[in-house]
Amino acid sequence: MRKSLVAGNWKMNGNKVSVDALMDGLMSGLNSGAVPASESIDILVCPSTVYLSQVADKAAQSVINTGVQNISQFESGAYTGELSLAMLVDFGCCYAIVGHSERRSLFGETDAQVADKCEAALNAGVTPILCVGESLEQRDAGEALAVVTEQVLTVIERCGIAAFNTAVIAYEPVWAIGTGRTASPEQAQEVHAAIRAVLHDADAEVAAATRILYGGSVGAANAAELFAQRDIDGGLVGGASLKVDDFLAICSAAAAA
Ligand code: PGA
Repeated sequence: MRKSLVAGNWKMNGNKVSVDALMDGLMSGLNSGAVPASESIDILVCPSTVYLSQVADKAAQSVINTGVQNISQFESGAYTGELSLAMLVDFGCCYAIVGHSERRSLFGETDAQVADKCEAALNAGVTPILCVGESLEQRDAGEALAVVTEQVLTVIERCGIAAFNTAVIAYEPVWAIGTGRTASPEQAQEVHAAIRAVLHDADAEVAAATRILYGGSVGAANAAELFAQRDIDGGLVGGASLKVDDFLAICSAAAAA
């Protein structure tokens, strides 16, 4: 039985005041039972890193975990502007989103760099959430499964299949991110099953235990039908994770799935 994970990716949003308000809202909702059986799922928020410590201090009094949206693959040294995993761990980071499509498309991250980051996270005791997903052109060309398979295989080759004893995968079709256009539950399930088959080819036990999240316009209205799919183990949520009620409703859908 895989424990569902709902992860909020706050992206480059918020300020000191709004971040506190969001955390206070989530925590009071959780305390008042807005998410039945909240202990049966993992809940994660990934704020902008400048607010990591502020968020982690609050989260420490709740079931909420804290993570970051990007990491450096390097340990320390002359990497101007980068943040090392050791620093992030120091400030309460236990998960890291790795290879988000915005990092890949806007900042040129390659499959190889993404694999390096996964390896660095695992070495630091941080759970990587490996994002994979095809563009609209790739989907229209019938290449979705091949693209996603290659993205997963690069990490298996670099880190070994044992990495997925810990690592989480998030399938996020690029055309569904921030567009309001969600993959249908069947479209998502097809890719999730294909990802699990890739893992299965390397190790059946690991494949059965790896959590595969769906991301791309997940909201309060569509979470339940997505999470009802056999191979969907929760969500990576962007826009809706900035709204207390929506995020709590998505958590409830995951706890009920
Ligand atoms: P979205 O973003 O939910 O706003 O589509 C998801 C993501 O980018 O992780």
